Amino acid sequence: TDRYAVVGNPISHSLSPRIHALFAEQTRQDLVYEARLGDAERFAEEVREWFREDLRGLNVTVPFKENAFRLVDLHTQRAERAGAVNTIWAEADGRLTGDNTDGAGFLHDLTGRLGIDPAGSSILILGAGGAARGLLEPLLHSRPARLVIANRTRAKAETLAAVFADLAGDVALSASGLDDIPPEPYGLVINATAAGLSASRPDLPAGLFAPGGLACDLVYGPGARPFLEWAREQGAERLSDGLGMLVEQAAEAFAIWRGIRPDTRPVFETLRRAIV
Ligand code: ATR
Repeated sequence: TDRYAVVGNPISHSLSPRIHALFAEQTRQDLVYEARLGDAERFAEEVREWFREDLRGLNVTVPFKENAFRLVDLHTQRAERAGAVNTIWAEADGRLTGDNTDGAGFLHDLTGRLGIDPAGSSILILGAGGAARGLLEPLLHSRPARLVIANRTRAKAETLAAVFADLAGDVALSASGLDDIPPEPYGLVINATAAGLSASRPDLPAGLFAPGGLACDLVYGPGARPFLEWAREQGAERLSDGLGMLVEQAAEAFAIWRGIRPDTRPVFETLRRAIV
């Protein structure tokens, strides 16, 4: 039986053990996946120790994704861009590789379950922290006409736009504060701020949504409500919390570790029934 885990702090509410158990059952893989409480002081030592013992793969969640980025020996290209690591495995020689499956997970959920093709659309990303950063590479590759990064602290949005400018190609990539968002209709507005974690939402101007527009929060469950309820009042036609992304980033990690990609739909539906 191969051993996997997720590390975070807090960790007791993590859905990852359930998600991976459902994937393992579906694909008939002999593995166990458990939640481990991380310690900020001893993070790197502890993770190395777990891999020396018997761990085959580790997912990393809040607040350790940047610690994980610093600890691993090798990074995938997309982890390098994201500046954060959520998936780790050991190479044959014992070196640890760090990947980031969050952005790919978001895009899978968007183009698959939600049936959205971002090509040619106008996208607004709210927030400029790690969560927003992880989405930028795959979103730019999906070729929207326009991508605006808007953050409460405007300078952080500007920094992110500069870091990703070389990937923009034909995409009009720009940055703003929350109070000077370019006033045009956006087909997709993504809340990548941490506001939902404290039951609030970013303070935003009216009139952001295009007809038929989609509002996404990267947070799942009740934390997504303040933003999604506001979005509905603002005329957003479709709403989505971050549960689909959570399941898809897990499927990406599972596929890397086990060489088989689970069918995410039944897993999403099982969890959706459990989380309102
Ligand atoms: P994460 O890794 O989850 O993105 P982070 O790096 O701490 O977390 O970034 C949090 C993001 O949420 C930032 O963009 C932050 O805005 P500031 O850069 O101005 O701090 C944003 N954020 C958090 N609470 C917010 C709120 N109540 N309203 C608007 N933005 C908020």
